[in-house]
Amino acid sequence: MKMLNVALPKGRLGEKVYQKFEASGYPCPSIKENNRKLIFENDEVGVRYFWVKPSDVAVYVERGAADIGVAGKDILLEYEPDVYELLDLDTGKCRMCVAAKKGYVDNPKRPLRVATKFTNIAKEYYASIGRDIDIIHLNGSIEIAPILGLSDVIVDIVETGTTLKENNLEVIQEIVPLSARFICNKTSYGFKKGQIDKLVANMAKLMEEEK
Ligand code: PRP
Repeated sequence: MKMLNVALPKGRLGEKVYQKFEASGYPCPSIKENNRKLIFENDEVGVRYFWVKPSDVAVYVERGAADIGVAGKDILLEYEPDVYELLDLDTGKCRMCVAAKKGYVDNPKRPLRVATKFTNIAKEYYASIGRDIDIIHLNGSIEIAPILGLSDVIVDIVETGTTLKENNLEVIQEIVPLSARFICNKTSYGFKKGQIDKLVANMAKLMEEEK
């Protein structure tokens, strides 16, 4: 049996996702021992899990350090890694949105100042509607930008909407819905197709039963 190397996103989403792998035939009990270890292996079923930063999962999978992994659609759209996207896990659901201060009115005569972590998604969206923008790349706490006048709007992930609400911002446009995706290295899919197809089929069945 070939070992399957799996990159999981560290954090709440990763824990949910691990449950799906466990229920689909790849348990690794040691992962539940809550320590600082980052790699867990179960030789009996042939699986090795790594906890990595959610935004790094696609890098591990694209370069083959992991055969498979779970990444947010936001990361896949932003970085376009050369991987196969095999399944929508229907979890970690949220939306990529444009938001602004309540009552914000756009001035179409000048470029729109857009603050975001997702510069490619934002550029593509505004190109699609033919709006000139001045893009401002930030790494976090994006919501502060329009409040301090650094930007007119932000392009960011909205899940519950609480962060926007508590900062007096509102969604002005939804760009795309997001969720966690099962991704696969293209070469690994050749070598480990049987195992991976079976795992994906088991997960899809599990999701069907949970509906
Ligand atoms: C995301 C996003 C928002 C928040 C939205 O941040 O950037 O700040 O979640 O969630 P809500 O609609 O449920 O309030 P995340 O926690 O992923 O980290 P970040 O601050 O690094 O962007």
